[in-house]
Amino acid sequence: MKMSRKTRLISALDLPELDQALAMVDRIGGAVEWYKVGKQLFTHYGPQVVRELKARGKKVFLDMKFHDIPNTVANAIRSGALIGGDIIDVHASGGPAMLAAAAEAMRETGAKVIGVTVLTSMDQAQLEAIGISATPQEQVLRLAHLVGDAGLSGVVCSALELPMLRKEMGEEFLTVVPGIRPAGVSAGDQKRIMTPRQAKEAGADFIVVGRPILADPEPAEAAARILQELA
Ligand code: C5P
Repeated sequence: MKMSRKTRLISALDLPELDQALAMVDRIGGAVEWYKVGKQLFTHYGPQVVRELKARGKKVFLDMKFHDIPNTVANAIRSGALIGGDIIDVHASGGPAMLAAAAEAMRETGAKVIGVTVLTSMDQAQLEAIGISATPQEQVLRLAHLVGDAGLSGVVCSALELPMLRKEMGEEFLTVVPGIRPAGVSAGDQKRIMTPRQAKEAGADFIVVGRPILADPEPAEAAARILQELA
């Protein structure tokens, strides 16, 4: 493993209102460059969320998890990149044709497109119910290979899968890892967690951190502590 890997912090902007979200971004200030905009905020406020972040010099992971026919997904990626998304995600289970179309759209833009493999809310029983007999881990690996073969940038993955994916997919495959908890911070509903430093050592390119920053009385300091761990 390369010890020189740079692991960046993405703060998940999981807040219901735009003014709240932007007040948080302004409060965190220069410490955090990357923000994840998810379906809650985007569905309510649309591209304005992204524009406001870009106006503040931020980079945006547009977490839309697109999953549709290839043409629709490719066009959605073009739109996402046009409004300023720097990283955009799709469901890898959309299949090779959809991933190939996503990769083609990605190459026309400056954005990176990553695949979501198996949602962490899916266990063996949930997979079986939709006709998949593979274990979650086997399914993650299968989908990661589809993502890599299509030429997409990488995947969103859990801390638990990170070492396996780094080993199987090589050093260049982008890994974006949620479920991160600095030492001493409540795990909340996250079960398979890593500290920022452990994620860096396991080969994460990006860690996604929500509540440990948003719920801290001093969010800028919480972010600074995480960055210190990553340094
Ligand atoms: O607050 P917390 O740090 O748990 O937030 C993590 C963020 O990453 C949330 O936006 C959550 O939806 C997202 N995420 C996750 N686990 C996944 C995929 C996404 O926690 N497997």
